[in-house]
Amino acid sequence: MDRNTLYGMLGQTVESINMDLPVIRGKVRDIIELGSHLLIVTTDRISAFDRVLSTIPCKGEVLNRISLFWFGKTEDIIPNHVERVVSARSVLVRKCELVPVEVVVRGYLTGSAWRDYRKGRDISGIRLPDGMRFNERFEEPLVTPSTKAERGIHDEPISEERLVSEGIVTEELWKKIRETALRLYRRGSEVAAGNGMILVDTKYEFGLYEGELMLVDEIHTPDSSRYWYMDTYDELFERGEPQRKLDKEYLRQWLIGKGFMGDGEIPQIPDEVRVEVAWRYIKAYETVTGEEFRPESRGVEEEVSLLQTVVNGFSM
Ligand SMILES: Nc1ncnc2c1ncn2[C@@H]1O[C@H](COP(=O)(O)OP(=O)(O)OP(=O)(O)O)[C@@H](O)[C@H]1O
Ligand SMILES: [Mg+2]
Repeated sequence: MDRNTLYGMLGQTVESINMDLPVIRGKVRDIIELGSHLLIVTTDRISAFDRVLSTIPCKGEVLNRISLFWFGKTEDIIPNHVERVVSARSVLVRKCELVPVEVVVRGYLTGSAWRDYRKGRDISGIRLPDGMRFNERFEEPLVTPSTKAERGIHDEPISEERLVSEGIVTEELWKKIRETALRLYRRGSEVAAGNGMILVDTKYEFGLYEGELMLVDEIHTPDSSRYWYMDTYDELFERGEPQRKLDKEYLRQWLIGKGFMGDGEIPQIPDEVRVEVAWRYIKAYETVTGEEFRPESRGVEEEVSLLQTVVNGFSM
């Protein structure tokens, strides 16, 4: 895979799937409901600041394949929603009753937690000691939940006490979720360390299928997680400088440079930037999985006919 190939792919991204069936569109995924199951298609759409901005070559495949990699590495901790892999970007999953909480686990003081800490605020109800520094590692990882807001509304941090007292989850279920999330984060950190990366923080979603708790959505992807390079962490931390990262930050910074932070008109994203973003997603895949990325790159029509076969088989 080289950058020239990616330029050639700019016109062939999968923006959305059209079928003779209702398709539910998330920011990134197109979802077909099949009763007890869902067909989830990870498109090439990219979102930042909660807005869909553009498409990025190979992004859907990269995200889905990184998730599949991690589902495989964590099956012994908790079952996940995957029933069958349909293509590099599409999976048939068990449709779960969602636990309406974004379960964020943080190993380091960074991002929104750092911004809140600097303003003297607590982090999802957790009071941190004074004198902590930018990007400092926590003794123990923190679980900082957010409510999963309705479409179009930003998720709100919430304390674990309120999650239970407001009846969003039962105490027993929350205990199980929190323990599982911490085990997943530990496993993620260990595997990432083997490939020279720090899994800084991440978000999990859980659901119930026939009463059983499962991991749903995506896991340890660059859309749901921060990754930093291990070899330069200490040096940059000591100097108080930003870490070298493998995540969506490049596009966010480019947008901020154009004065866009989610409101108003979306700036036109040039080809060079789309290719650079694609390149970084592919590097993320290769670094995290330790494998070379070879795109399957089916066109939309071929993807749709594959999906149609699954749908037909399902209604029989
Ligand atoms: N197994 C599952 N059962 C039910 N819902 C699921 C399952 N896996 C993922 N989902 C939901 O499907 C959606 C995935 O779509 P996408 O990631 O594009 O949405 P999103 O923009 O993150 O949406 P939202 O802001 O609504 O969460 C999410 O709302 C996620 O919670
Ligand atoms: Mg999502």
